[in-house]
Amino acid sequence: MSGGKRVGAGRKAKSELEKKKQKNIYIPEELYEEVMKAPIAYGDSFSSRCEFLIEEGLANFAVYNKNREDKVDKLTFIDLFAGIGGIRQAFEDDKTKAVFSSEWDKFAAATYEANFGEKPHGDITQIKAEEIPKHDVLLAGFPCQPFSMIGKREGFSHATQGTLFFDVLRIIKHHQPKMFLLENVQGLLTIQNGETFRIIKSALKEVGYDVFSDVLDAQNYGLPQVRKRVVIVGFRKDLEITNFDLPQGSNNRVPVSQILEENPNGYTISEHLQNTYLFKKNDGKPQIIDENSDIQVKTLVASYHKIQRLTGTFVKGGDTGIRLLSELECKRLMGFPDDFKVPVSRTQMYRQFGNSVAVPMMKAVADCMKERLFLAESLKLKDDKVS
Ligand SMILES: C[S@@+](CC[C@H](N)C(=O)[O-])C[C@H]1O[C@@H](n2cnc3c(N)ncnc32)[C@H](O)[C@@H]1O
Repeated sequence: MSGGKRVGAGRKAKSELEKKKQKNIYIPEELYEEVMKAPIAYGDSFSSRCEFLIEEGLANFAVYNKNREDKVDKLTFIDLFAGIGGIRQAFEDDKTKAVFSSEWDKFAAATYEANFGEKPHGDITQIKAEEIPKHDVLLAGFPCQPFSMIGKREGFSHATQGTLFFDVLRIIKHHQPKMFLLENVQGLLTIQNGETFRIIKSALKEVGYDVFSDVLDAQNYGLPQVRKRVVIVGFRKDLEITNFDLPQGSNNRVPVSQILEENPNGYTISEHLQNTYLFKKNDGKPQIIDENSDIQVKTLVASYHKIQRLTGTFVKGGDTGIRLLSELECKRLMGFPDDFKVPVSRTQMYRQFGNSVAVPMMKAVADCMKERLFLAESLKLKDDKVS
Protein backbone atom coordinates (compact mmCIF):
# COMPACT_ATOMS: atom_id res chain seq x y z
CA MET A 1 0.00 0.00 0.00
CA SER A 2 1.31 3.42 -0.78
CA GLY A 3 0.29 7.03 -0.62
CA GLY A 4 -1.94 8.78 1.90
CA LYS A 5 -1.07 9.46 5.46
CA ARG A 6 -0.79 6.67 8.04
CA VAL A 7 -3.35 6.93 10.82
CA GLY A 8 -1.64 8.29 13.87
CA ALA A 9 1.39 9.46 11.94
CA GLY A 10 2.71 12.83 12.95
CA ARG A 11 1.32 12.49 16.49
CA LYS A 12 3.68 13.53 19.23
CA ALA A 13 5.46 10.54 20.81
CA LYS A 14 4.19 9.81 24.32
CA SER A 15 6.52 10.54 27.23
CA GLU A 16 7.54 7.59 29.46
CA LEU A 17 5.15 8.82 32.14
CA GLU A 18 2.21 9.07 29.76
CA LYS A 19 2.71 5.48 28.68
CA LYS A 20 2.09 4.31 32.22
CA LYS A 21 -1.31 3.62 33.69
CA GLN A 22 -2.52 5.24 36.83
CA LYS A 23 -3.74 2.71 39.43
CA ASN A 24 -4.93 3.39 42.95
CA ILE A 25 -3.88 1.19 45.83
CA TYR A 26 -4.68 1.31 49.54
CA ILE A 27 -1.83 0.53 51.89
CA PRO A 28 -1.27 1.01 55.63
CA GLU A 29 0.61 4.16 56.68
CA GLU A 30 3.50 2.05 58.05
CA LEU A 31 3.95 0.32 54.72
CA TYR A 32 4.00 3.69 52.95
CA GLU A 33 6.72 4.81 55.33
CA GLU A 34 8.68 1.63 54.75
CA VAL A 35 8.47 2.15 50.99
CA MET A 36 9.71 5.73 51.32
CA LYS A 37 12.55 4.72 53.65
CA ALA A 38 13.70 1.68 51.64
CA PRO A 39 17.32 2.15 50.51
CA ILE A 40 16.55 2.22 46.80
CA ALA A 41 19.24 3.64 44.54
CA TYR A 42 17.00 5.48 42.12
CA GLY A 43 13.69 7.28 42.20
CA ASP A 44 12.50 9.46 45.04
CA SER A 45 8.81 9.40 44.26
CA PHE A 46 6.42 6.94 45.84
CA SER A 47 5.39 5.80 42.39
CA SER A 48 8.88 4.99 41.12
CA ARG A 49 9.81 3.32 44.40
CA CYS A 50 6.70 1.15 44.21
CA GLU A 51 7.45 0.28 40.60
CA PHE A 52 10.95 -0.87 41.54
CA LEU A 53 9.76 -2.85 44.58
CA ILE A 54 6.91 -4.52 42.69
CA GLU A 55 9.27 -5.58 39.88
CA GLU A 56 11.73 -6.94 42.46
CA GLY A 57 8.96 -8.71 44.35
CA LEU A 58 7.55 -10.32 41.22
CA ALA A 59 10.99 -11.50 40.12
CA ASN A 60 11.62 -13.05 43.55
CA PHE A 61 8.21 -14.58 43.57
CA ALA A 62 8.76 -16.19 40.19
CA VAL A 63 12.08 -17.64 41.35
CA TYR A 64 10.54 -18.85 44.56
CA ASN A 65 7.55 -20.43 42.84
CA LYS A 66 9.95 -22.26 40.59
CA ASN A 67 11.88 -23.51 43.66
CA ARG A 68 8.61 -24.44 45.24
CA GLU A 69 7.57 -26.55 42.28
CA ASP A 70 10.96 -28.26 42.24
CA LYS A 71 10.90 -28.80 45.97
CA VAL A 72 9.86 -32.23 47.10
CA ASP A 73 9.24 -31.25 50.71
CA LYS A 74 5.60 -30.60 51.50
CA LEU A 75 4.30 -28.12 54.01
CA THR A 76 3.32 -30.33 56.95
CA PHE A 77 0.35 -29.46 59.13
CA ILE A 78 -1.57 -30.66 62.15
CA ASP A 79 -5.33 -30.35 62.60
CA LEU A 80 -6.55 -29.81 66.18
CA PHE A 81 -10.21 -29.78 67.33
CA ALA A 82 -10.63 -31.15 63.85
CA GLY A 83 -14.38 -31.79 63.86
CA ILE A 84 -15.22 -33.08 60.40
CA GLY A 85 -12.12 -31.45 58.93
CA GLY A 86 -13.48 -28.18 57.54
CA ILE A 87 -10.21 -26.32 58.08
CA ARG A 88 -8.29 -29.23 56.60
CA GLN A 89 -10.62 -29.23 53.59
CA ALA A 90 -9.67 -25.58 53.10
CA PHE A 91 -5.94 -25.88 53.78
CA GLU A 92 -4.92 -29.18 52.24
CA ASP A 93 -3.61 -29.30 48.68
CA ASP A 94 -0.98 -31.22 46.76
CA LYS A 95 1.82 -29.20 48.36
CA THR A 96 0.76 -29.91 51.95
CA LYS A 97 0.73 -33.01 54.11
CA ALA A 98 -1.28 -33.71 57.28
CA VAL A 99 0.87 -35.35 59.95
CA PHE A 100 -1.50 -35.39 62.96
CA SER A 101 -5.13 -34.72 63.83
CA SER A 102 -7.17 -34.74 67.04
CA GLU A 103 -10.93 -34.92 67.59
CA TRP A 104 -12.49 -36.68 70.55
CA ASP A 105 -16.11 -36.86 69.40
CA LYS A 106 -16.59 -40.32 67.87
CA PHE A 107 -19.23 -39.18 65.39
CA ALA A 108 -17.21 -36.24 64.08
CA ALA A 109 -14.15 -38.52 63.98
CA ALA A 110 -16.13 -41.02 61.85
CA THR A 111 -16.98 -38.34 59.29
CA TYR A 112 -13.36 -37.15 59.35
CA GLU A 113 -12.05 -40.66 58.75
CA ALA A 114 -14.54 -41.33 55.95
CA ASN A 115 -13.31 -38.27 54.08
CA PHE A 116 -9.62 -38.01 54.90
CA GLY A 117 -8.80 -41.70 55.43
CA GLU A 118 -7.33 -41.09 58.85
CA LYS A 119 -8.73 -41.65 62.35
CA PRO A 120 -7.97 -38.60 64.49
CA HIS A 121 -6.31 -38.98 67.88
CA GLY A 122 -8.53 -38.40 70.93
CA ASP A 123 -8.52 -35.93 73.82
CA ILE A 124 -5.84 -33.35 73.10
CA THR A 125 -5.45 -32.44 76.78
CA GLN A 126 -4.03 -35.94 77.30
CA ILE A 127 -1.50 -35.78 74.47
CA LYS A 128 1.99 -34.49 75.25
CA ALA A 129 3.41 -31.99 72.78
CA GLU A 130 6.44 -34.27 72.32
CA GLU A 131 4.13 -37.04 71.08
CA ILE A 132 2.92 -34.85 68.20
CA PRO A 133 5.10 -34.93 65.07
CA LYS A 134 6.94 -31.78 64.12
CA HIS A 135 5.02 -29.65 61.65
CA ASP A 136 5.14 -26.40 59.70
CA VAL A 137 1.56 -25.29 60.28
CA LEU A 138 -0.94 -25.68 63.12
CA LEU A 139 -4.67 -25.48 62.38
CA ALA A 140 -7.26 -25.29 65.16
CA GLY A 141 -10.90 -24.30 65.58
CA PHE A 142 -10.67 -24.46 69.36
CA PRO A 143 -13.80 -24.17 71.55
CA CYS A 144 -14.00 -20.77 73.23
CA GLN A 145 -13.72 -20.62 77.04
CA PRO A 146 -13.10 -17.67 79.36
CA PHE A 147 -9.83 -17.43 81.31
CA SER A 148 -9.09 -16.93 84.95
CA MET A 149 -7.95 -13.33 85.37
CA ILE A 150 -5.99 -14.21 88.49
CA GLY A 151 -3.36 -16.12 86.53
CA LYS A 152 -2.64 -13.14 84.28
CA ARG A 153 -0.21 -11.61 86.73
CA GLU A 154 2.03 -14.62 86.20
CA GLY A 155 2.11 -14.22 82.41
CA PHE A 156 -0.43 -14.50 79.65
CA SER A 157 0.15 -18.22 79.03
CA HIS A 158 -0.43 -18.91 82.70
CA ALA A 159 -3.81 -17.20 82.58
CA THR A 160 -4.98 -19.63 79.92
CA GLN A 161 -4.23 -22.80 81.91
CA GLY A 162 -7.05 -25.32 82.15
CA THR A 163 -8.65 -24.15 78.90
CA LEU A 164 -8.47 -25.76 75.48
CA PHE A 165 -6.67 -22.68 74.14
CA PHE A 166 -3.89 -23.55 76.59
CA ASP A 167 -3.45 -26.84 74.73
CA VAL A 168 -3.13 -24.98 71.44
CA LEU A 169 -0.59 -22.66 73.05
CA ARG A 170 1.56 -25.36 74.65
CA ILE A 171 1.80 -27.19 71.30
CA ILE A 172 2.74 -23.99 69.46
CA LYS A 173 5.29 -23.16 72.15
CA HIS A 174 6.89 -26.60 71.94
CA HIS A 175 6.89 -27.08 68.16
CA GLN A 176 7.26 -23.49 66.98
CA PRO A 177 5.47 -24.08 63.65
CA LYS A 178 6.13 -21.52 60.94
CA MET A 179 2.53 -20.36 61.07
CA PHE A 180 -0.86 -21.12 62.58
CA LEU A 181 -4.49 -20.60 61.65
CA LEU A 182 -7.11 -20.45 64.42
CA GLU A 183 -10.85 -19.98 64.07
CA ASN A 184 -13.53 -19.14 66.58
CA VAL A 185 -16.99 -17.70 67.06
CA GLN A 186 -17.38 -13.93 67.04
CA GLY A 187 -18.38 -14.05 70.72
CA LEU A 188 -14.73 -14.65 71.55
CA LEU A 189 -14.15 -10.93 71.03
CA THR A 190 -16.63 -9.87 73.69
CA ILE A 191 -16.41 -12.45 76.48
CA GLN A 192 -15.07 -10.85 79.65
CA ASN A 193 -15.26 -7.51 77.86
CA GLY A 194 -12.65 -8.51 75.34
CA GLU A 195 -10.09 -9.53 77.95
CA THR A 196 -10.10 -13.20 76.87
CA PHE A 197 -9.29 -12.22 73.30
CA ARG A 198 -6.57 -9.80 74.42
CA ILE A 199 -4.99 -12.57 76.48
CA ILE A 200 -5.11 -14.98 73.54
CA LYS A 201 -3.30 -12.52 71.29
CA SER A 202 -0.75 -11.58 73.94
CA ALA A 203 -0.08 -15.23 74.81
CA LEU A 204 0.52 -16.06 71.14
CA LYS A 205 2.89 -13.10 70.81
CA GLU A 206 4.63 -14.18 74.02
CA VAL A 207 5.51 -17.56 72.48
CA GLY A 208 7.17 -15.89 69.50
CA TYR A 209 4.65 -14.94 66.83
CA ASP A 210 3.43 -11.95 64.87
CA VAL A 211 -0.32 -12.20 65.24
CA PHE A 212 -3.10 -10.91 62.96
CA SER A 213 -6.84 -11.30 63.29
CA ASP A 214 -10.09 -10.20 61.74
CA VAL A 215 -13.80 -11.00 61.71
CA LEU A 216 -14.69 -12.55 58.36
CA ASP A 217 -18.14 -13.33 57.02
CA ALA A 218 -18.91 -16.41 54.88
CA GLN A 219 -21.30 -14.46 52.64
CA ASN A 220 -18.31 -12.51 51.26
CA TYR A 221 -16.72 -15.73 49.99
CA GLY A 222 -19.46 -17.02 47.72
CA LEU A 223 -21.63 -18.74 50.33
CA PRO A 224 -25.31 -17.84 50.75
CA GLN A 225 -24.96 -17.72 54.54
CA VAL A 226 -24.22 -14.98 57.05
CA ARG A 227 -21.57 -16.57 59.23
CA LYS A 228 -19.15 -14.29 61.03
CA ARG A 229 -16.08 -15.83 62.58
CA VAL A 230 -12.89 -14.56 64.20
CA VAL A 231 -9.86 -15.77 62.32
CA ILE A 232 -6.42 -15.54 63.94
CA VAL A 233 -3.24 -16.00 61.92
CA GLY A 234 0.29 -16.11 63.30
CA PHE A 235 3.70 -16.18 61.66
CA ARG A 236 6.84 -17.12 63.57
CA LYS A 237 8.79 -13.96 64.31
CA ASP A 238 11.92 -14.93 62.40
CA LEU A 239 9.88 -14.89 59.17
CA GLU A 240 9.58 -11.13 59.64
CA ILE A 241 6.01 -10.93 58.38
CA THR A 242 5.06 -7.81 60.26
CA ASN A 243 1.95 -6.92 58.31
CA PHE A 244 -0.72 -9.23 57.00
CA ASP A 245 -4.24 -8.31 55.94
CA LEU A 246 -6.71 -11.14 56.03
CA PRO A 247 -8.54 -11.43 52.69
CA GLN A 248 -11.89 -9.66 52.77
CA GLY A 249 -13.61 -11.60 49.99
CA SER A 250 -15.94 -9.72 47.68
CA ASN A 251 -19.41 -8.26 47.47
CA ASN A 252 -20.51 -10.77 44.83
CA ARG A 253 -23.29 -12.35 46.82
CA VAL A 254 -24.74 -15.76 46.02
CA PRO A 255 -28.48 -16.14 46.65
CA VAL A 256 -29.61 -19.13 48.71
CA SER A 257 -31.90 -20.24 45.88
CA GLN A 258 -28.75 -21.42 44.08
CA ILE A 259 -28.02 -24.17 46.58
CA LEU A 260 -31.54 -25.54 47.07
CA GLU A 261 -32.47 -29.06 46.04
CA GLU A 262 -35.76 -29.76 44.34
CA ASN A 263 -38.01 -31.63 46.79
CA PRO A 264 -35.49 -33.81 48.62
CA ASN A 265 -37.09 -36.72 50.42
CA GLY A 266 -37.44 -37.10 54.15
CA TYR A 267 -36.92 -33.57 55.49
CA THR A 268 -40.56 -32.68 56.18
CA ILE A 269 -41.45 -30.87 59.41
CA SER A 270 -44.70 -32.37 60.71
CA GLU A 271 -47.77 -30.18 61.06
CA HIS A 272 -47.75 -30.94 64.77
CA LEU A 273 -44.22 -29.54 65.16
CA GLN A 274 -45.07 -26.55 63.02
CA ASN A 275 -48.16 -25.72 65.10
CA THR A 276 -46.58 -26.48 68.44
CA TYR A 277 -43.26 -24.74 67.97
CA LEU A 278 -42.49 -23.16 64.64
CA PHE A 279 -45.08 -20.42 64.59
CA LYS A 280 -45.95 -20.45 68.28
CA LYS A 281 -42.92 -19.39 70.24
CA ASN A 282 -41.80 -15.84 70.51
CA ASP A 283 -38.09 -16.52 70.82
CA GLY A 284 -37.19 -15.46 67.31
CA LYS A 285 -39.09 -16.17 64.10
CA PRO A 286 -37.91 -18.83 61.67
CA GLN A 287 -36.69 -17.80 58.24
CA ILE A 288 -38.67 -19.47 55.46
CA ILE A 289 -37.04 -19.63 52.03
CA ASP A 290 -37.92 -21.02 48.61
CA GLU A 291 -36.49 -21.30 45.09
CA ASN A 292 -36.97 -17.54 44.56
CA SER A 293 -35.14 -16.40 47.69
CA ASP A 294 -32.22 -14.16 46.81
CA ILE A 295 -31.01 -13.66 50.38
CA GLN A 296 -28.12 -15.04 52.39
CA VAL A 297 -29.54 -17.12 55.22
CA LYS A 298 -28.89 -17.03 58.95
CA THR A 299 -25.91 -18.86 60.43
CA LEU A 300 -26.35 -22.63 60.41
CA VAL A 301 -25.97 -23.59 64.08
CA ALA A 302 -25.11 -26.94 65.66
CA SER A 303 -28.55 -27.14 67.29
CA TYR A 304 -30.42 -26.67 63.97
CA HIS A 305 -32.10 -30.08 64.37
CA LYS A 306 -33.62 -29.14 67.74
CA ILE A 307 -37.10 -28.37 66.47
CA GLN A 308 -38.07 -26.99 69.90
CA ARG A 309 -36.12 -23.84 69.10
CA LEU A 310 -37.11 -23.20 65.58
CA THR A 311 -35.25 -20.00 64.95
CA GLY A 312 -33.33 -21.28 61.97
CA THR A 313 -33.89 -21.42 58.23
CA PHE A 314 -36.53 -23.70 56.70
CA VAL A 315 -37.59 -24.38 53.15
CA LYS A 316 -41.04 -24.19 51.58
CA GLY A 317 -42.03 -27.55 50.16
CA GLY A 318 -42.55 -31.17 51.07
CA ASP A 319 -45.74 -32.89 52.20
CA THR A 320 -46.51 -30.41 54.98
CA GLY A 321 -45.40 -27.25 53.20
CA ILE A 322 -42.20 -26.75 55.22
CA ARG A 323 -39.04 -28.81 55.45
CA LEU A 324 -35.57 -28.76 56.98
CA LEU A 325 -32.47 -28.03 54.92
CA SER A 326 -31.27 -31.26 53.34
CA GLU A 327 -27.83 -32.81 53.84
CA LEU A 328 -26.73 -31.64 50.41
CA GLU A 329 -27.97 -28.11 51.12
CA CYS A 330 -26.01 -28.07 54.41
CA LYS A 331 -22.84 -29.10 52.59
CA ARG A 332 -23.33 -26.34 50.02
CA LEU A 333 -24.19 -23.77 52.65
CA MET A 334 -20.82 -24.47 54.29
CA GLY A 335 -18.89 -24.80 51.02
CA PHE A 336 -18.10 -28.52 51.24
CA PRO A 337 -18.04 -30.54 48.02
CA ASP A 338 -21.28 -32.34 47.14
CA ASP A 339 -19.53 -35.70 47.44
CA PHE A 340 -18.32 -35.07 51.01
CA LYS A 341 -19.19 -38.26 52.90
CA VAL A 342 -21.57 -38.17 55.86
CA PRO A 343 -21.62 -41.59 57.53
CA VAL A 344 -23.63 -40.44 60.59
CA SER A 345 -27.26 -39.88 61.65
CA ARG A 346 -29.30 -36.85 60.55
CA THR A 347 -28.94 -35.27 64.01
CA GLN A 348 -25.16 -35.68 63.96
CA MET A 349 -25.01 -34.37 60.39
CA TYR A 350 -26.66 -31.07 61.39
CA ARG A 351 -24.45 -30.80 64.50
CA GLN A 352 -21.33 -31.43 62.49
CA PHE A 353 -21.98 -28.92 59.72
CA GLY A 354 -23.24 -26.36 62.23
CA ASN A 355 -19.97 -26.71 64.17
CA SER A 356 -17.77 -26.57 61.11
CA VAL A 357 -16.27 -23.74 59.09
CA ALA A 358 -17.12 -21.91 55.89
CA VAL A 359 -14.65 -23.75 53.67
CA PRO A 360 -14.12 -21.11 50.92
CA MET A 361 -13.56 -18.42 53.55
CA MET A 362 -10.89 -20.47 55.29
CA LYS A 363 -9.40 -21.39 51.93
CA ALA A 364 -9.03 -17.71 51.02
CA VAL A 365 -7.13 -17.19 54.30
CA ALA A 366 -5.06 -20.35 53.84
CA ASP A 367 -4.05 -19.31 50.30
CA CYS A 368 -2.90 -15.88 51.50
CA MET A 369 -0.94 -17.44 54.35
CA LYS A 370 0.84 -19.89 52.05
CA GLU A 371 1.68 -17.11 49.63
CA ARG A 372 3.13 -14.90 52.37
CA LEU A 373 5.11 -17.74 53.87
CA PHE A 374 6.61 -18.69 50.53
CA LEU A 375 7.48 -15.10 49.78
CA ALA A 376 9.05 -14.57 53.22
CA GLU A 377 11.07 -17.76 52.88
CA SER A 378 12.20 -16.88 49.38
CA LEU A 379 13.41 -13.46 50.53
CA LYS A 380 15.27 -15.14 53.39
CA LEU A 381 16.83 -17.60 50.99
CA LYS A 382 17.98 -14.72 48.82
CA ASP A 383 19.34 -12.77 51.80
CA ASP A 384 21.21 -15.83 53.03
CA LYS A 385 22.81 -16.26 49.61
CA VAL A 386 23.86 -12.61 49.47
CA SER A 387 25.40 -12.51 52.98
C1 LIG B 1 -15.86 -25.80 66.95
S1 LIG B 1 -15.60 -27.46 66.68
C2 LIG B 1 -14.41 -27.42 65.39
C3 LIG B 1 -14.99 -27.87 64.09
C4 LIG B 1 -14.01 -28.00 62.96
N1 LIG B 1 -13.31 -26.78 62.67
C5 LIG B 1 -14.72 -28.48 61.69
O1 LIG B 1 -14.47 -27.99 60.62
O2 LIG B 1 -15.56 -29.37 61.80
C6 LIG B 1 -14.61 -27.92 68.05
C7 LIG B 1 -14.30 -29.41 68.11
O3 LIG B 1 -13.40 -29.65 69.18
C8 LIG B 1 -13.68 -30.95 69.67
N2 LIG B 1 -13.07 -31.05 71.02
C9 LIG B 1 -13.44 -30.40 72.14
N3 LIG B 1 -12.65 -30.72 73.15
C10 LIG B 1 -11.72 -31.59 72.66
C11 LIG B 1 -10.62 -32.29 73.25
N4 LIG B 1 -10.31 -32.14 74.53
N5 LIG B 1 -9.88 -33.08 72.46
C12 LIG B 1 -10.17 -33.25 71.14
N6 LIG B 1 -11.22 -32.62 70.55
C13 LIG B 1 -11.99 -31.82 71.30
C14 LIG B 1 -15.19 -31.01 69.66
O4 LIG B 1 -15.66 -32.35 69.69
C15 LIG B 1 -15.53 -30.28 68.37
O5 LIG B 1 -15.70 -31.17 67.30
